[in-house]
Amino acid sequence: MDKLQVEGGRPLSGSVSVSGAKNAALPLMAASILASGPLTLTNIPRLGDLRTMGRLLRHMGGSADLYPDDGAGGHREEAVLSMSGIDRPEAPHDLVKTMRASALVLGPLLARHGRARVSLPGGCAIGVRPIDLHLKALSNMGAEFDLSGGDIVARAPKGGLVGAEIRFESVTVTGTENVMMAAALAKGRTVIQNAAREPEVTDTARALLAMGAKITGVESDELVVDGVDALSEATHRVMPDRIEAATLVAAVALTGGSAVVRGARLNDMAMVLGKFTEAGVLLRAHNGDLHVESDPDLIAAVNITTSPYPGFPTDMQAQFLALMTRARGASIVTETIFENRFMHVAELRRLGADITLEGRTAVVKGTERLSGAPMTASDLRASASLLLAALAAEGTSDIYRVYHLDRGYDRLDQKLNSLGARITRMPA
Ligand code: UD1
Repeated sequence: MDKLQVEGGRPLSGSVSVSGAKNAALPLMAASILASGPLTLTNIPRLGDLRTMGRLLRHMGGSADLYPDDGAGGHREEAVLSMSGIDRPEAPHDLVKTMRASALVLGPLLARHGRARVSLPGGCAIGVRPIDLHLKALSNMGAEFDLSGGDIVARAPKGGLVGAEIRFESVTVTGTENVMMAAALAKGRTVIQNAAREPEVTDTARALLAMGAKITGVESDELVVDGVDALSEATHRVMPDRIEAATLVAAVALTGGSAVVRGARLNDMAMVLGKFTEAGVLLRAHNGDLHVESDPDLIAAVNITTSPYPGFPTDMQAQFLALMTRARGASIVTETIFENRFMHVAELRRLGADITLEGRTAVVKGTERLSGAPMTASDLRASASLLLAALAAEGTSDIYRVYHLDRGYDRLDQKLNSLGARITRMPA
């Protein structure tokens, strides 16, 4: 297992490009199950989670060619997914346990193959995260579920799933995607109310449209899907990763650097960029580039509360909290999406951060300096938060369990090093 050794206190400069979005690429890969021809995805990030999804698709009997050779000694950031050969519509426990997003194959399998067996996702570090809302919505469309040996065994009615009126009682991102994908091949019309509006849901909808699906209300909280008989081959470019982009902005801000983040889609990031600006980070957008500059001694304390899009994303909470450890004054960080998403707090305290936790709220009192220390990553975004704080700290920090980072960030350590950070990957 690797660790990252970080020498802090070096301002970042230069330019860095944003990769494709993990949370769009995952549902898009699952969507390939629906198509009669190959789905080609371009701009896919290099991530552990995508490799896991590729393994899952191959396990089921499909062909998933990820990162093919470019003929010049490198690899293309592309996936060619051809799922017409699926003969084992199952997501086994060893794949689901490493990646909850495996549940995204449930809707497409039911719609295309009429049956599925998916290991029930267990608890995970950031909270309980059940998939009851997915199951309730799919059962409204006629699916039946049994539990057997820890697996959900699902069956569609004889003539296939039928369109239904679905109202999610709370906003669920992958739940919305699962049902939208299932509805694309169901009989008749499905209306999804209180749908998640995350840009990744929209990106998935756009790929389905390119495959021949009939969906209206895209980008709104009410999606109307008219089922079609078949979906065809398509090519889709995965949207840029807004969380990675914002993480890079936070890194530059925390180190007092001046750097350019290229290729982000700023419209998707309005809330987060507004909060950086409120904190005194200078942001200038020019031709798709985002120039970031800050004086870490002048960062202002800003309060954030996570909520579904267009609110402040829970996936950026840990990284923004890291920025607030250096702010002038106290900021209040409230997490409303996941009940246990403050695992980074205890680790950040080891650097000297002053943070008090009370239920779903953290009060962060900015300190003038952080000093390097060993830390252990607990989940994906927490690991990014620790890495950011280590960049800002004086001295050396070791970060253990970095496999969390590699699951969801495309070579973040290398990207930061290209901006002048000093991060070394070594066996722990
Ligand atoms: C997705 C993202 C994840 C992000 C999260 C919230 C992917 C692959 N992952 O996760 O990075 O942090 O959205 O923006 O896109 N819930 C239920 N029952 C359900 C479904 C959800 O109670 O059936 C609860 C969850 O426990 C959580 C909340 O609803 O408290 C939101 O979860 P949800 O939007 O479903 O998160 P994911 O789709 O799993």
